[in-house]
Amino acid sequence: MSVRRLAEDQFQPAAFAFNAENAVWAEKTIQKYPDGRQQSAIIPLMMRAQEQEGWVTKAAIETIADMLDMAYIRALEVATFYTQFQLNPVGTRAHVQVCGTTPCMLRGAEGLIKICKSRINDHAFERNVDGTLSWEEVECQGACVNAPMVVIGKDTYEDLTPTRLEEIIDAFAAGKGHEIQTGPQIDRVFSAPEGGLTSLLSDEAKAKSSASKTAKATAEVVAPPPSEIASEKADAAKKPSLDDKDRPAGIERPAQPDDLQLISGVGPKIEGTLHELGIFTFAQIAGWHEAERHWVDGYLNFKGRIERDEWVKQAEALAKGGEAEYIKVFGKKPR
Ligand code: FES
Repeated sequence: MSVRRLAEDQFQPAAFAFNAENAVWAEKTIQKYPDGRQQSAIIPLMMRAQEQEGWVTKAAIETIADMLDMAYIRALEVATFYTQFQLNPVGTRAHVQVCGTTPCMLRGAEGLIKICKSRINDHAFERNVDGTLSWEEVECQGACVNAPMVVIGKDTYEDLTPTRLEEIIDAFAAGKGHEIQTGPQIDRVFSAPEGGLTSLLSDEAKAKSSASKTAKATAEVVAPPPSEIASEKADAAKKPSLDDKDRPAGIERPAQPDDLQLISGVGPKIEGTLHELGIFTFAQIAGWHEAERHWVDGYLNFKGRIERDEWVKQAEALAKGGEAEYIKVFGKKPR
């Protein structure tokens, strides 16, 4: 539980006023509430003040209290209770809120915090040298399915690796945060499974279950917004070349390929792509050396996922003794 106090006087501006556009919005918002209940507008008004000023100042709290005919202490109670209100100046370009609750912690939040410490400031809530960036650890933000994640402004950035977070921080530091795709940072649509849908497929898609069909089904269910399409095109342009020396050797399709979907992180779409690359067996994946893993990771736009999900270790177990060996090694059934 953090102690939440107003910023020191030296940081507090003398006065606060909503700008013209926000003043009109505030009046309309207050009118949404029944007579005598206008005080219920305090949270949206404070959030709007924070968006305008970057943080919630004492002057803003008092001005909003006056607008809602509230005692200052009541407005102060609201501002200090809810942690989404920043009571001190934060980074002018980004305040990075790193989720440190159990699912995110288990999936690598500590690595994200290390990046914040090294790229922004050793201490939470303290800004970087030029005042553009700051960070803090927060509790669950409700995106655990795509852990680990951070919130910047009103947007979430999910399925993060330390490297990806560093890239995002660099973009915000350069004033290009708006160019970063929000939401999942891997091959996933919203909170759907990695690599494409695995359920709720049409009968036809189920029967064929080929990678291309699954990709089509995914697109039919959830059409990606234009920004995702642009980002996908950019990712495609960055794909390593098929002629690269580090591309793992492929083989002819055997009569009975291994079920690569037993490897956690491989869905129907990814399996289809691996087949296109001539990868059909656990033994092939188990034998990938580091450069080959890096090549496949880049080709799939996985951003470190192959290492994180231990594909090679999973494939070694499955190649050695199937599900029984996998259970022995990982203490659970595959997938
Ligand atoms: S635990 Fe991090 S979003 Fe829920």
